[in-house]
Amino acid sequence: MADHLESSDGPTLELSLQRTRHTTGMSDRQGGSLLLMEAGVFVLQRWVQNSNTALSLCSALMERAFFSASADVLQRGILLPSFELPGYSSNQIFLSPSCYRALTPAIMCPPCFDSQVRQATNQIVMNCADIDIITASYVPEGDEEIHATGFNYQNEDEKVTLSFPSTLQPGTGTLKIDFVGELNDKMKGFYRSKYTTPSGEVRYAAVTQFEATDARRAFPCWDEPAIKATFDISLVVPKDRVALSNMNVIDRKPYPDDENVVEVKFARTPVMSTYLVAFVVGEYDFVETRSKDGVCVRVYTPVGKAEQGKFALEVAAKTLPFYKDYFNVPYPLPKIDLIAIADFAAGAMENWGLVTYRETALLIDSKNSCSSSRQWVALVVGHELAHQWFGNLVTMEWWTHLWLNEGFASWIEYLCVDHCFPEYDIWTQFVSADYTRAQELDALDNSHPIEVSVGHPSEVDEIFDAISYSKGASVIRMLHDYIGDTDFKKGMNMYLTKFQQKNAATEDLWECLEGASGKPIAAVMNTWTKQMGFPLIYVEAEQVENDRLLKLSQRKFCASGPYVGEDCPQWMVPITISTSEDPNHAKLKILMDKPEMNVVLKNVKPDQWVKLNLGTVGFYRTQYSSAMLESLLPGIRDLSLPPVDRLGLQNDLFSLARAGIISTVEVLKVMEAFVNEPNYTVWSDLSCNLGILSTLLSHTDFYEEIQEFVKDVFSPIGERLGWDPKPGEGHLDALLRGLVLGKLGKAGHKATLEEARRRFKDHVEGKQILSADLRSPVYLTVLKHGDGTTLDIMIKLHKQADMQEEKNRIERVLGATLSPELIQKVLTFALSEEVRPQDTVSVIGGVAGGSKHGRKAAWKFIKDNWEELYNRYQGGFLISRLIKLSVEGFAVDKMAGEVKAFFESHPAPSAERTIQQCCENILLNAAWLKRDAESIHQYLLQRKASPPTV
Ligand code: BES
Ligand code: ZN
Repeated sequence: MADHLESSDGPTLELSLQRTRHTTGMSDRQGGSLLLMEAGVFVLQRWVQNSNTALSLCSALMERAFFSASADVLQRGILLPSFELPGYSSNQIFLSPSCYRALTPAIMCPPCFDSQVRQATNQIVMNCADIDIITASYVPEGDEEIHATGFNYQNEDEKVTLSFPSTLQPGTGTLKIDFVGELNDKMKGFYRSKYTTPSGEVRYAAVTQFEATDARRAFPCWDEPAIKATFDISLVVPKDRVALSNMNVIDRKPYPDDENVVEVKFARTPVMSTYLVAFVVGEYDFVETRSKDGVCVRVYTPVGKAEQGKFALEVAAKTLPFYKDYFNVPYPLPKIDLIAIADFAAGAMENWGLVTYRETALLIDSKNSCSSSRQWVALVVGHELAHQWFGNLVTMEWWTHLWLNEGFASWIEYLCVDHCFPEYDIWTQFVSADYTRAQELDALDNSHPIEVSVGHPSEVDEIFDAISYSKGASVIRMLHDYIGDTDFKKGMNMYLTKFQQKNAATEDLWECLEGASGKPIAAVMNTWTKQMGFPLIYVEAEQVENDRLLKLSQRKFCASGPYVGEDCPQWMVPITISTSEDPNHAKLKILMDKPEMNVVLKNVKPDQWVKLNLGTVGFYRTQYSSAMLESLLPGIRDLSLPPVDRLGLQNDLFSLARAGIISTVEVLKVMEAFVNEPNYTVWSDLSCNLGILSTLLSHTDFYEEIQEFVKDVFSPIGERLGWDPKPGEGHLDALLRGLVLGKLGKAGHKATLEEARRRFKDHVEGKQILSADLRSPVYLTVLKHGDGTTLDIMIKLHKQADMQEEKNRIERVLGATLSPELIQKVLTFALSEEVRPQDTVSVIGGVAGGSKHGRKAAWKFIKDNWEELYNRYQGGFLISRLIKLSVEGFAVDKMAGEVKAFFESHPAPSAERTIQQCCENILLNAAWLKRDAESIHQYLLQRKASPPTV
């Protein structure tokens, strides 16, 4: 099939003009069957069918496209059979909103493709989903129009084949398509987002979300990341609506025959992938500034809420010059808009020049937003703006390399926030938010390598997970540390310059970083991206005169215990070693490139501790000999170990216990050593692990005892902090107070519960409004220990809330309620009109995580309402999140079987791997419980009888 194609050095390549595609090495990588087409002209022209509708339309014109696809995907028949595609370079597309069946204030326009037929053909294959083509024709330049006579939809593959009665000869021409699409309610493709006006009227905005494979729902196109084109977009919209797209407006004129409608024309985009095209039509206010480097930045908010855009505006205006300097490549567009969308499935989407966000990822109210929301907005803005370079300017070759986009952006968002808000100590938070999360998932047998072969859209959806994001970010952090910032930046600049407006694969990045650093980057990194999992480094030490001799060995770390089997995978592990003499600096750095290694540390006194993995940067876990561990523990208590090292040590021990390598009681003892801990993130990680343990022990009859333990661990810090901020406190104190009071309140700490009730009452009565940072912990505490009246009050507060942040805050804690009837009420509420479709997941997840009964009730609810839930998310990543949150807490073997059986009869293709991971986790929980429950119980009882002296 591939031989039908001309190879990349075919004559038409010259027509790719200045945009020489990145083709080097690709065909080699793909075993010689790479398909490449470019240049030529097709125009798809859509004429407006019904211009007297009150709605609007938009038009998009794509120009200069390039095409490539990988052979393995083609063989599976999932992708465009490009051998049938004549190739195209410039496309014009018109969609008409009058064609969109659903109600909409805005209508879209049809696409026009200018392309060149490179090889005689009488068929054209394009991506197309939920679109009816009315007519299609091809007009060869200077010749007569040829009307397509057949449209053969391959719905499963989301493609259409246009058949022509005569052969389209090589040359340029215009492909015109007249079609009807659906403005859907699925939060993907071109969809409706519902909002309520300040006067209470329900209205809709028309919004796009194309990543990964949904541009094809808005217009027929060649919808693959390596098929880049320019787009000239016009929108015909009601004249009182805001119309936005990737580029700035270049013309706005009355629309013939309808005085209520205007045609808005946008400047031509740079060469870009279809998944980054965007348009929005609706009612919005905005705030605006110009960044230091001259880019016009706007934040669009719901009407009347422009003030809430100011925080994100400031962050964005600081971030653009930061990235410009870091990459040494300017932002290429004249403007960037950041817009808050009411109904939005992901957190945010990096459409080039028009970044879309959930309201809670963009809007900050000076009084009603809490510190963690501010931090989240800063991270999300930092993440999406990084994609403007890394992803938009240079795009992954195929979704296999999605991690390049997401892993990199998930790393650099921290660098950017650290630059804008050094007081957030954000890199420590990286470790508890991304690094440990990635290790937890990657220790499963059902994990996957960072680079994973994908074809069908459901497989693509599936990899937007913690491996691509958090493991991706973690290995980039490790690499950055290994290379050093100067060479890393140099390599990044080479990569972005060399591949700008083109596509790249993982090895292209390695090549640039290798060039910049002179280090064996590809050899090291292939061990991290091409194989799943990560190593456990076992270390023991021996004092030899003035030196310390360390013996290191590596073996794959598995959540179920030590790796058994012959050919254990190996990694090239950059390892750092520090000692108590200078806990913040590495005494030695080595690259462990063998299964075992001996290392001599010169001049280490016998009483000094030695620790691996300074800063918890290396993506591995460490198991120390008991003597080494024993010597490290005082460093926790006296805080001489740096915070991120204390965190890492505790987290390693916890996961070793879960894997059965050490006993859980040992970890409980270590947790008690955190009595003097001042650091928010260290507490946050500890709290998270204790939460996992509490959930596990909710399967036993000594759940109350672990709550006592939690109270004991958290009360000293709770007392030190108190309820009200002290002068001079900052961001991290606010986060810590919320965390600790929430933990104590949830565990039923009497004084905390009483104070929470008192403050809640004052809040509800309007006597003293709770500060935003205290709301979550107070709501959680009163609900968990409250009754039906408390739940009713919370639901009333939810109804009255003007900010989505407050609604979400309430939605997330509703599941803490304990009585079966109230739990049922919360579940019903989750699917009601009161909860936005994307937020249903966190309400149900909250119920599952809230209590033992909640867990069972949530699972039953999902089974009973499966059809509705599945249809709501249409296989997107939200269904995976829902399943994970709802079933992962079970700890009985038979539940793994039940979950598996349910999904065998109710398939959710994009969640398949998540379901396997959940079943694996259930079995791991069950094994853990069987193994350690009794000894934990004994320890807790004995502790109660003779409490440890602090
Ligand atoms: N490119 C993604 C958006 C996306 C996610 C599209 C999933 C399709 C499927 C975007 O850059 C992103 O990563 N968003 C994150 C937020 C980010 C701060 C981690 C998200 O939506 O969760
Ligand atoms: Zn991203």
